[in-house]
Amino acid sequence: MTTYYGPLGLRNCFSSLITLFLTIFAISLFLNKAHLRQEETPTPPPSSPPAVLNVSKVERQEEITIPILPPPVALNLSKFERQEEITTPILPPPVPLNLSKVERQEERITIPYPPPPPPPPPPIAWNALEGDDKCDLFSGRWVYDNSTHPLYSWQNCSFMHDEIACEKFGRKDRLYKNWRWQPHGCDIPRFNSTKLLERLRGKRMVFVGDSLNRNQWVSMVCLVESSIPPEQKSMKFNGSLLSFNAKEFNASIDFYWSPLLLESNGDDPVIHRTSERIVRAHSIEKHAKHWTDADVIVFNSYLWWKKPGIKLKILHGSFEDKDKDFEEIELALGLEVALRTWSEWLESHVDTNKTQLFFVSLSPTHVWADEWGKPSDQNCYTETEPITKEGYASRGTDYSLMRTVEAAVEGLRYKGVHVQILNITQLSEYRKDGHPSIFRRQYAPLTEEQLANPTSYSDCTHWCLPGVPDTWNELLYTYIMSR
Ligand SMILES: *[C@@H]1O[C@H](CO)[C@@H](O)[C@H](O)[C@H]1NC(C)=O
Ligand SMILES: *[C@@H]1O[C@H](CO)[C@@H](O)[C@H](O)[C@H]1NC(C)=O
Ligand SMILES: *[C@@H]1O[C@H](CO)[C@@H](O)[C@H](O)[C@H]1NC(C)=O
Ligand SMILES: *[C@@H]1O[C@H](CO)[C@@H](O)[C@H](O)[C@H]1NC(C)=O
Ligand SMILES: *[C@@H]1O[C@H](CO)[C@@H](O)[C@H](O)[C@H]1NC(C)=O
Ligand SMILES: *[C@@H]1O[C@H](CO)[C@@H](O)[C@H](O)[C@H]1NC(C)=O
Ligand SMILES: *[C@@H]1O[C@H](CO)[C@@H](O)[C@H](O)[C@H]1NC(C)=O
Ligand SMILES: *[C@@H]1O[C@H](CO)[C@@H](O)[C@H](O)[C@H]1NC(C)=O
Ligand SMILES: *[C@@H]1O[C@H](CO)[C@@H](O)[C@H](O)[C@H]1NC(C)=O
Ligand SMILES: *[C@@H]1O[C@H](CO)[C@@H](O)[C@H](O)[C@H]1NC(C)=O
Repeated sequence: MTTYYGPLGLRNCFSSLITLFLTIFAISLFLNKAHLRQEETPTPPPSSPPAVLNVSKVERQEEITIPILPPPVALNLSKFERQEEITTPILPPPVPLNLSKVERQEERITIPYPPPPPPPPPPIAWNALEGDDKCDLFSGRWVYDNSTHPLYSWQNCSFMHDEIACEKFGRKDRLYKNWRWQPHGCDIPRFNSTKLLERLRGKRMVFVGDSLNRNQWVSMVCLVESSIPPEQKSMKFNGSLLSFNAKEFNASIDFYWSPLLLESNGDDPVIHRTSERIVRAHSIEKHAKHWTDADVIVFNSYLWWKKPGIKLKILHGSFEDKDKDFEEIELALGLEVALRTWSEWLESHVDTNKTQLFFVSLSPTHVWADEWGKPSDQNCYTETEPITKEGYASRGTDYSLMRTVEAAVEGLRYKGVHVQILNITQLSEYRKDGHPSIFRRQYAPLTEEQLANPTSYSDCTHWCLPGVPDTWNELLYTYIMSR
């Protein structure tokens, strides 16, 4: 097998080109056969300036000192190795994950609220149902395994979206569907849709976020629905809410469009291509009322916070006001503002005894082929195999946005609200072969001119299905099933 990787940073042009993201795909209601207006995903010119987030400029409030809590996951106490007595009794209730050993440490750190990006948290100790080893599920390698993967075929996925149905739109190479994620040190359990539906019986799981989160939701629906006969399943659309139901289990797996978490000018699930970003201060209830009571919630929000050259307008008042009162800040800082409102909402409205919370980390893109040793005018188009260089990271991956999310999650932990980060960034970095490029349809088929010009019209942001998001869901499954 040939693998491609090469010197990083050959070019100065920074990959904030993620302008690509900016053109977020409007969701296709093709599912209910509606045809929508055409929207494109142009690749930005290579000369766009980097969008640098200066985290140190974040406003900090008064600092308070809190003893650090034990790792955010619950433990298999029978194998618990205590290093030191924990002196603080204010721990949140343990989350009943079935783990073996976790090391505790006591350490004093200073946490401002909102907290600053914390030092990287300790790796999650994990007894992944197999073996006893401590294991970071997100650190591993891709193994070619055509006996277990793909986990379904696109023909059997009735609710597939055309924008990620790569085979349907002419992708001929097949290897990209055959990779299995193998963590170093443990195995992940085989995805069993019946077991998952049993676990979700009478329950509701909701994916809340942008088009990448929708990509993961479609994958989850494909993963579970293949075992369900047509009359036993349904799909409903109601504005921003897409709802899959497995009738026999009365289990719902929903997607809710909310790319900036807060109420915003991008809230239309179909027509949300906007030249500016506006969020309404403190306004999350408009969205949150649709998912507050769910049993499992999977959030994401990154790409919409990156768009070179524009600021975020924070609206005080309502979108209907005639004279609007705006405050402008750096777009990337808006994520922190949004997460503050989000955190407050979770803390006061979500029953953490009932609801399992996840936040998916940033999904990387493969827009600049020079990052893996190809000519710089190429991209993910024509890539058929993963990158094998351990720890490969693309220039465009914005770690500061991830630190912002980790800080918010850490802040919630101190308040007794556990949010599990699904740390899929690194494993997805390797998968330059996983994107639709030109093998997709969005509202309308790509034109001949577009097909002839893959360097400009490739989608190197979203992911083909079957493919990489199936693995994100295998990891999500591992957490849900071990609770
Ligand atoms: C970030 O902001 C701080 C404070 O405003 C400033 O001292 C520092 O030089 C800035 N760093 C960068 C990389 O712009
Ligand atoms: C803890 O781990 C031990 C050994 O792996 C196992 O025998 C035991 O059942 C586990 N306990 C729980 C509560 O999972
Ligand atoms: C933990 O997992 C083991 C193996 O899957 C299972 O036998 C045991 O009952 C689980 N314990 C709890 C508390 O869920
Ligand atoms: C995510 O995984 C990467 C690579 O394994 C690691 O460097 C990073 O610290 C992890 N982040 C979190 C929040 O676990
Ligand atoms: C799996 O891959 C092996 C080696 O490439 C090949 O011989 C075999 O036919 C493949 N099996 C399937 C089911 O595609
Ligand atoms: C679709 O599912 C049916 C029954 O579950 C199976 O027989 C068929 O082979 C599947 N089709 C494909 C293309 O995998
Ligand atoms: C999935 O789980 C069900 C119920 O536990 C079991 O009957 C079935 O054999 C499992 N399927 C696979 C492929 O392991
Ligand atoms: C079905 O599940 C929903 C939660 O998703 C619950 O509110 C409702 O009571 C359930 N209905 C039945 C008949 O169990
Ligand atoms: C759609 O959602 C609204 C609330 O947002 C609700 O009032 C309405 O009944 C829903 N319609 C359908 C057909 O479910
Ligand atoms: C969560 O469960 C614990 C223990 O069962 C209980 O004491 C607590 O009141 C519950 N919290 C909520 C918000 O229901």
